[in-house]
Amino acid sequence: MQLFIFDDYESLSHRAADEIISLVKQKPNAVLCLAAGNTPVLTYKYLVQKARDENIDFSNCVFIGLDEWVGIPPENEGSCAWFLRKNIFNNLNFLPSRIHLFDALAVDLHTECNAMDRVIFYAGGIDLMVVGIGMNGHIGFNEPGTSFDLYSHISQLDATTRLVGQKYFKEQTSLGLGLTLGLKHLLESKKVVLLANGRSKADIIQKALLGEINPAVPASIIRRHTESIIMIDKEVASHLKQKDN
Ligand code: GLP
Repeated sequence: MQLFIFDDYESLSHRAADEIISLVKQKPNAVLCLAAGNTPVLTYKYLVQKARDENIDFSNCVFIGLDEWVGIPPENEGSCAWFLRKNIFNNLNFLPSRIHLFDALAVDLHTECNAMDRVIFYAGGIDLMVVGIGMNGHIGFNEPGTSFDLYSHISQLDATTRLVGQKYFKEQTSLGLGLTLGLKHLLESKKVVLLANGRSKADIIQKALLGEINPAVPASIIRRHTESIIMIDKEVASHLKQKDN
């Protein structure tokens, strides 16, 4: 695991975008899993700029969606699908046939999860995951207490996620379940980049990086991954004190 602390959100986002660009240059058919959420918005803006400047082709890449709110249609601005379309797919030349997102309206959610696992398996695994961290330490919708040993699954969203998640929606929205890749996917991914910025993430990052590696703080799993990079800004790092011995 490597930890990089940046002066600000801008420099963090540039570095994260460079990570994606450099992989796609090296492996044009890379399998990418790029999270939705507020944290990576600037990363994706820079990614689009850099891809244009350097003429990077994403048409051979495979895109795997990290998670989705069950019951929320892709036309809803709060859905992960809507976010990804706006910030990534509308601006980079991913082929629709190589974009795999959870269908949050699927009648059989278990089948949906199994289908996603098969896609990842037959694609040869994920090359790079870029993820954020929830206020409760979740990654994707792997909520506190979720086994590190799961692939895609249906998640019962906890109270924090249901509350914090309202920020993505125009109106009060009932959120109960999520579909998510599992933490086993993260462990098996060839590389993982975890992004966090702003003071509100300082406490949970401190727990994830300095507390026990334990499902109670799902993001702590990142320390089990040898090729993981944590990118945080100074505000997040301000709470990162060594544990008392
Ligand atoms: C959300 C999503 C995650 C996201 C995380 C942090 O609920 N399920 O995939 O990475 O929480 O979101 P944000 O970047 O908006 O803080």
